[in-house]
Amino acid sequence: MCVLTGAGISAESGVPTFRDAQTGLWAKFRPEDLATPEAFARDPRRIWEWYEWRRELVRRVEPNAGHHALVQLAGLVPRLTLVTQNVDGLHQRAGSTGVIEYHGNILRDRCSAEGTLAERSTLSITGLPECARCGELLRPDVVWFGEAIPRQALLEADAAAAGCDVFLAIGTASVVYPAAGLAESAKRCGAKVIEINTEPTALTPLVDVSLCGPAGAVLPQLLQALRG
Ligand code: OAD
Repeated sequence: MCVLTGAGISAESGVPTFRDAQTGLWAKFRPEDLATPEAFARDPRRIWEWYEWRRELVRRVEPNAGHHALVQLAGLVPRLTLVTQNVDGLHQRAGSTGVIEYHGNILRDRCSAEGTLAERSTLSITGLPECARCGELLRPDVVWFGEAIPRQALLEADAAAAGCDVFLAIGTASVVYPAAGLAESAKRCGAKVIEINTEPTALTPLVDVSLCGPAGAVLPQLLQALRG
């Protein structure tokens, strides 16, 4: 089984999604102002303020029944690969292992010059997070628009999608590529595609089974059904 999760699975923990009409982050902020390398180069202070706010939010919340159900599901099927577009680390906090972080992790820092994970310098001149090794600005270890998916995550997710019997897309609008292409690839390779979402999405016309409802309720029901 290959599972792809999106912002919807963390919604019930209190993490805002991106594209929900009233509450989504992209309803309130413009992605090109906050989630591109150009925006960071223009105004790193503003970008850091936004990410620090999101980090605080993520640190305050807890994994929900949906995250926990996926930990259980991994024990019920012969092999489960969990790919997440979320940067909140909630799958790992629930106990999922081997999670493929397709868009990175908001709680880690990366050096904007060296590209590698880095510690913060204790001697920042600008007041912004700076690399302890080279002194250049740190950035959150997330994928911004226009940037490549981390190579290892890309390869592992591609292989899992192309090799699975069942592909489960949970809480994603399925509009951001290449993540959205994983379900299409699984379908082309003969997998059954199941979607769990509160709304129809761009993926819905392609799926074999659509389970409509909040992930925190549907996933525990699915588990119960699988256990018979
Ligand atoms: P979106 O915000 O685009 O979509 C969230 C999906 O979750 C929508 O289809 C909702 O209907 C659904 N949803 C909301 N609450 C739910 C619940 N309780 N249970 C199940 N489904 C629910 O988020 P993503 O598809 O994850 O990328 O967005 C993909 C990427 O776009 C993100 O990773 C981020 C964003 O820009 C980057 O930052 C690179």
